[in-house]
Amino acid sequence: MSANYVRIFDTSLRDGEQAPGASMTSAEKLEVARALARLGVDVIEAGFPAASPDDLAAVQTIAREVGQAPVEGRPQAEPPIVCGLARCTRGDIETAWEGVKGAKHPRIHTFLATSDIHLQHKLRLSRPEVVARATEMVTFARSLCADVEFSPEDAGRSDPEFLYEVLAAVIKAGATTLNIPDTVGYTMPDEYGALIAGIIAHTPGAKDMIISTHCHDDLGLAMANTLAGLRAGARQAEVTVNGIGERAGNASLEELVMALHTRRDKLGLTTGIDTHQLCRVSKLISRSTSYPVPPNKAIVGANAFAHESGIHQDGMIKNAQTYEIMRPEDVGATQTTLVLGKHSGRNAFSKRLAELGYPLEGEALAKAFAEFKKLADRKKSVHDADLVALASDERSSAPELWVLEDLQVACGTTGLPTATVRLRGPDGRKHVHAAVGSGPVDATYKAINAVVRVPVTLLEFAINAVTEGIDALGEVSVRVRHDDARPIHGHGSDTDIIVASAKAYLASLNTVLARTGQTPPAPAEKTVPANVTA
Ligand code: KIV
Ligand code: ZN
Repeated sequence: MSANYVRIFDTSLRDGEQAPGASMTSAEKLEVARALARLGVDVIEAGFPAASPDDLAAVQTIAREVGQAPVEGRPQAEPPIVCGLARCTRGDIETAWEGVKGAKHPRIHTFLATSDIHLQHKLRLSRPEVVARATEMVTFARSLCADVEFSPEDAGRSDPEFLYEVLAAVIKAGATTLNIPDTVGYTMPDEYGALIAGIIAHTPGAKDMIISTHCHDDLGLAMANTLAGLRAGARQAEVTVNGIGERAGNASLEELVMALHTRRDKLGLTTGIDTHQLCRVSKLISRSTSYPVPPNKAIVGANAFAHESGIHQDGMIKNAQTYEIMRPEDVGATQTTLVLGKHSGRNAFSKRLAELGYPLEGEALAKAFAEFKKLADRKKSVHDADLVALASDERSSAPELWVLEDLQVACGTTGLPTATVRLRGPDGRKHVHAAVGSGPVDATYKAINAVVRVPVTLLEFAINAVTEGIDALGEVSVRVRHDDARPIHGHGSDTDIIVASAKAYLASLNTVLARTGQTPPAPAEKTVPANVTA
């Protein structure tokens, strides 16, 4: 591997998933892992297997499905390394190994804090005890796995001399990558660069190691710090798509990759990422976590290549380079209009979906195609973004226990907003209920609640237009909580935003039911005539 190659370690499925409310289902994690592998990331941190049996199972599935052989379309000939996080304990390390051992290239990533503040208040360990534990646990991890990464947590606030000591000890114990986390996003770029340079210069054995950056964005400096670390000699960067992660998030994958790509004249560093897929993967992560991408987000925001002012537009017409340092097509930001209409065939539809990274087959393809036909009837032009929304609905991991068959809403400036829903239950029977609410969405949710009867708290509700124009497909994301468990999200799309809202809510309830293994209680009364809830 060239000395200027930067390994992209994506931790969207681990640090990213730690963002409040960003939890993903196992099916969503697998879909994200496949997309990351196709994008060309070198390492996928698939999760924290000791966190829960579900997390372990998700990591095992990713190791098996994505880590054994390269997925179709991956730029590299080898599958990515699949990595599992572990605290410095035997139990965590054994569980991480259980998670990743099915991959062709498994990695255990173990961490222990090194800053005095963490030692005194969190770990209650002395410095010699930290050195001893890190050494013992890296040795143990190496007895299981040939590839072991060690992270001194809160390295950014640790005494550099103590860091050199801990890192020298774990190198001797067999660590293969040293990751240097700025866990709380505290350092300034010159400090972080100096920290990496100091580690390489003063830690015995570090010159032969891969040194990695891991920067949080609490002061908005994650990207600047990551670049400073790479310029000082780090050759792995830990990043997340859209910068999701704990608190203010992590350095963002797409920003780093495009900075290295666009400024290779200055930085001279390369990655193995296929930049054309960046926008698509960004949308997938946004949808899977229900974290919207701000319009002004660099690289993947809706306005990243939009030019509003007359002077800029004039420049763009004369030469795009006047105001664009990257070409939108290089990050996959072009919006292709599909010139397929209601007379178009299923083959062309399925081919375009596959090109967009959403290969559908069988029943899912048939249902998506039927939805496409309905959409083509209602909408003048169908864009790629519409297709992605349709395909994602079909590939949604929410099991179809309850299905929305019909929805009628009456609302306006006078009268009570009223919604009537007809749902098909898991037993195949149809249930009709009407409810009034403070608005059409509230009335719809009340009617659904009266039938499905799963107690949840609605934490978040967001509507987005998938494309521009009055006939745009509306995409609704909801986040609900059931029984104090982690929030669950659901999404749905339709040209009618009340229908999209109902689909999203029902998807979240179906996921709750599937997760809790609950058999839905039979509704008190069923079918026509409608019951009305006020
Ligand atoms: O920010 C951090 O310190 C981490 C470690 C577990 C690597 O995420
Ligand atoms: Zn982190």
